[in-house]
Amino acid sequence: MKRLRTLFFFSAPIAILYLSPVAQMSNKLQFGAIKPNKPVTYVSDKVKFAGPVETKAERDARMKWWRDVRFGMFIHWGLYAVPAGEYKGQRSTRIGEWIMEWANIPRAEYEKFALQFNPVKFNAAEFVRIAKDAGMKYIVITSKHHDGFAMYDSKVSTYDIVDATPYHKDPIKALAAEAKKQGLKFCFYYSILDWHHPSQYVDAPGKDPSAGNRTTKMKPGGKEEYVAYMKGQLRELITTYDPGVLWFDGEWQDWWTEEDGQDLYRFVRALKPDIIINNRVGKGRQGMVGMSKTDREYAGDFGTPEQQIPANGLPGVDWESCMTMNTTWGFKFYDDQWKSSQTIIRNLIDIASKGGNYLLNVGPTAEGLIPQPSVERLAEVGKWMKVNGAAIYGTTASPFPTQLTFGRATSKPGRVYLHVFDWPADGNLRVPVWGKPVKRAYLLANPKTALKFNESSEAVSIQVPLKASDSIATVLVLETAN
Ligand code: GLC
Repeated sequence: MKRLRTLFFFSAPIAILYLSPVAQMSNKLQFGAIKPNKPVTYVSDKVKFAGPVETKAERDARMKWWRDVRFGMFIHWGLYAVPAGEYKGQRSTRIGEWIMEWANIPRAEYEKFALQFNPVKFNAAEFVRIAKDAGMKYIVITSKHHDGFAMYDSKVSTYDIVDATPYHKDPIKALAAEAKKQGLKFCFYYSILDWHHPSQYVDAPGKDPSAGNRTTKMKPGGKEEYVAYMKGQLRELITTYDPGVLWFDGEWQDWWTEEDGQDLYRFVRALKPDIIINNRVGKGRQGMVGMSKTDREYAGDFGTPEQQIPANGLPGVDWESCMTMNTTWGFKFYDDQWKSSQTIIRNLIDIASKGGNYLLNVGPTAEGLIPQPSVERLAEVGKWMKVNGAAIYGTTASPFPTQLTFGRATSKPGRVYLHVFDWPADGNLRVPVWGKPVKRAYLLANPKTALKFNESSEAVSIQVPLKASDSIATVLVLETAN
């Protein structure tokens, strides 16, 4: 490991961004892009929050693109794609990227997968096209997962795809460039837990000390070195690839504290002030439910429900549900429990109707291909989005106080979109009133033909065609006063 340069940030009442002279000299690091932080005003006097703290208007401006896009592609791609869920004949119902943990693979053995990792079929333009055609507007890819292997050309480690595999190329570079070209935001996942870094080891019954484990121990004095290593990698990721989001994970280690999370949050924001960071940077997350605890202020800009959709959205709270399409994040060749495109599309609608984003995962193979069942499902989603995207992008949560019996709703100023899952057999859709008179009603797929409706004090009855135009979700638009 090469020596690291550290960026110091002091969170005194006046924030001062201090760059070491060595860091300033390095032309690899584009420090010109970094604006010094504004004076810090804390959100509350009780909590010294993970600044730079901003006004609501500043935060809204920073979060704007993320709130508008609603739908993104998660990519879990790494060395675990080589064993693809099988080690020495052993298979598991567990997730593919955790194979180093469940198959108890020692570091030195796991490293050997790198020699077989040669994703020659990888095509960045194709990856981005698949995402874009599905209607996805951003991509979050694993830069380094729990196994510690970097999928980009890291200068602070040789445990990366360029140095350690026969591929010798940086797929992340190609993907970042393609995303930019095709107009998608490019973002990174980064794991705090690291099964490969020498600072961490496993102390668990039956476990090899250098294998993977849900929790690792930190060697005495190892944390400082490891945090410097992480910061080195994060600086590379931010300055080289300009990500829109940093999506942390693996924060549940007992050696990682909220203060560490706040420090890392500040570090990342100092490198790119308008970047967006998830709540797994610190200790705020409530397990798989993913929303941040409210007993104090925690680092992170949005909640991260995992494999689930909250029952209700929370006004003013940003969140993103991440989900798999089968049952694993990292590729497993025998996992064929695919969700239907109907489930995926309705999940997207359900999430948007609660004011959240949907981050839907693909797990590419070691050859560099997105599995065909994923490609097919994404194409189906894309077909729906082509007609109905306006009812998803830039929308906010349903205006109805309770969930609609026939489907879901999203809204925009002057418009409510009704996503009808259960089409009324009698051609009469009854919508509870929500306080705004309806001016015009029509099918999103057919805006020129106005639908007749009657409004009473309880409901708006809309005369709809007898058959739904889309059996998954047909969208009606109700125009209202702004
Ligand atoms: C979990 C898993 C991890 C996966 C992540 C995605 O935290 O540990 O493998 O990357 O969920 O949300």
